[in-house]
Amino acid sequence: MADAFTIVPGAYAGGLRYLDVIGDAATGRVFLHGAHVTSWRPDGEDESLVWLSERAIFADETAIRGGVPICFPWFGPNRPTPEGPAHGLARLSEWRFEGAAETDAGVAVTLGLDQDAPAAVPGWGAAFRVDEQDEGEVRFQARYTVTFGSSLTTSLSVTNTGSRAIGFEAAIHTYYPVSDVRQVSVSGLEGYPFVERGAGGGAGEPIRFTREVDRVYPAAPSALRLTDPGAGRRFTLESSGAAGWVVWNPFRDKAAAMGDFGDEEWRSMVCLEPVSLGEAMIWLQPGQSHGLGVVSTPQTLPDR
Ligand code: BG6
Repeated sequence: MADAFTIVPGAYAGGLRYLDVIGDAATGRVFLHGAHVTSWRPDGEDESLVWLSERAIFADETAIRGGVPICFPWFGPNRPTPEGPAHGLARLSEWRFEGAAETDAGVAVTLGLDQDAPAAVPGWGAAFRVDEQDEGEVRFQARYTVTFGSSLTTSLSVTNTGSRAIGFEAAIHTYYPVSDVRQVSVSGLEGYPFVERGAGGGAGEPIRFTREVDRVYPAAPSALRLTDPGAGRRFTLESSGAAGWVVWNPFRDKAAAMGDFGDEEWRSMVCLEPVSLGEAMIWLQPGQSHGLGVVSTPQTLPDR
């Protein structure tokens, strides 16, 4: 598979490097900065099936807006250090390219990260939760495998390579493109408890987007469906190793307040994010590993 991928260095003004993946079933792009997928185009599709903002900033100190950010080792603001960056350090760090291979599911690219990677404040040593009664060194090894095929498979595996227990939150924060967010629905979470940060649609029904929706479902099933009649498409999502989901669309006002988000772009995206956070935070003893991932599969809706 020597021809299955190419590495293009320094393609953006920020000097960020990415891998372009060209396979039989799909093409894709993943940046070493954040191990951030910014494009996935299955064979037969005209456009990428991950959404990327036209205002995305490509620079060391910024997370790319859109695509598939990895939130790790915390989600949202870090409770012990709320002044630090949102959604952890992984999306601000330079990952190592560890290899690519053709698999039955498509071309799989693996990237790696550990505590020696340059990180924004507060640095990896203070980035994990620890038991203060415990002693020893905090070390970890993260591996992220992205498989670009007719489905997009993203899989984060974290191993505690240190000598004390570590706790962390994690999410795969995929931005899906939609024709008009006001016309789509998300099903699979009906009846499950959630915490609402915005003010979205009613409980007990598939989720509709008529205002900002920013919901955390801390414990929920692994399968979701995003149905978009306008695009004639449904995404089926199957997560693994995650306790719940986050569902997010900023809607008009929040989008306008974000510098790296076009004022009208909220119409064309929705984020569905398998997550383990808060009380469902993942704890690993030395030597233990945990995997968290999601398979996203697009299907064409039958004509009505
Ligand atoms: C979502 C959160 O996952 O990410 C939202 O639930 C947040 O609260 C959004 O606004 C975007 O976060 P950021 O840090 O990429 O602007």
